[in-house]
Amino acid sequence: MKFLKPAIIAAAILGAGGAMASPYDHAIEARQGLMDNLAFNLGILGGMAKGAMPYDATEAKSAADNLVTLSALNIGAYWPKGSDDEALKGDKLKTHALPAIWAKEGEFMGHYKALHEATLKMQIAAATGREGIQGAIGDVGKACGACHKAFRAPE
Ligand code: HEC
Repeated sequence: MKFLKPAIIAAAILGAGGAMASPYDHAIEARQGLMDNLAFNLGILGGMAKGAMPYDATEAKSAADNLVTLSALNIGAYWPKGSDDEALKGDKLKTHALPAIWAKEGEFMGHYKALHEATLKMQIAAATGREGIQGAIGDVGKACGACHKAFRAPE
């Protein structure tokens, strides 16, 4: 458990009142990290689809498996009520989460479920080669985009 130390130290420093941390900082960091992980894995498949990198069955499978796993997480706790961009305006840690997430929770979670379904199709397609990825990546991208359009504030 040695690797936990820096986090404990950081928490202690924040707890000492040095930084103006909102109680939502960890949830916001976690969900933005989750999004970055989704983008990272989608980027690998996108690179293969475009031919920017060669198709590699093992790497394609890893990226697709990761997308399936990430989109299967229980994400409720990542979106605590009050952690939207209006409530936290001026806060040090920027969030782009729109208040609509909490007004239309069912719709929001539905988008995450739709993403999961698209990644399951990608998982099958990614094993078949570059054309397979090309055929499945549009729906994954659309699942990301549909949620962003409704629930993420522009930069
Ligand atoms: C259920 C809705 C939803 C889905 C599906 C979704 N996102 Fe997001 N995404 C958001 C919201 C909301 C934010 C803003 C989060 C914040 O700033 O607190 C976000 C933020 C991001 C960010 C910026 C993260 C940062 O560091 O600030 C990236 C990158 C991203 N999403 C990529 C993706 C990709 C790629 C997919 C699909 C594979 C995806 N998202 C699917 C809702 C979603």
